[in-house]
Amino acid sequence: MSLTTLGLELPTDPRWVNIAAMQIGDVLIDHAYCEQKAASSCISLIVHYPEKPKIVETLTPIVAEEWGHFQAVLKELRKRNIPLGRQRKDEYVGQLLKLVRNKGDYEEALLDRLLICALIEARSCERFKLLSESLEDPSLQKFYRELMISEAGHYRTFIELAEEYIPQDLVRNRWKELLYEEAEIIKTLKPRGDRIH
Ligand SMILES: [Fe+2]
Ligand SMILES: [Fe+2]
Repeated sequence: MSLTTLGLELPTDPRWVNIAAMQIGDVLIDHAYCEQKAASSCISLIVHYPEKPKIVETLTPIVAEEWGHFQAVLKELRKRNIPLGRQRKDEYVGQLLKLVRNKGDYEEALLDRLLICALIEARSCERFKLLSESLEDPSLQKFYRELMISEAGHYRTFIELAEEYIPQDLVRNRWKELLYEEAEIIKTLKPRGDRIH
């Protein structure tokens, strides 16, 4: 999975995975909440757009899949006797959500919500790949490799959903803008070894 395939403009700072490997318990806790949020943002899209059957039909099984990921992370925590603990502030996602244009046009808001989900999937996929290649524990390597493949599929699904409802040139232009913004966010946030993002 290369950056070009994912579309991302800025690769993760190579130091991130080394510090993450040293704090894998914290990474797993943060990761558990990422999966929970992935499931709940799909539920939220289903609740907001019930008149769009493709959204409802495509995202319903993804809710189950993301919840399965959450359960899988819980299992990894349990194996290591690490309690889940409380959710930490997610600055990366918080800043991305500020980019949603939700004051005016209904279609704009839908487009932004779908593309931001795609961005989060793409960045998670990139980081899972780094974890799968760098962690020493073979079971975690396999775990992150499988998740990387799954999130890459979700990334494509969100882009396809956007193209289903919004004209392609609008999707493409907004995607370019958001890729730029995402790279800016990544640049300003210091790489944190206790977080997925
Ligand atoms: Fe997931
Ligand atoms: Fe996902």
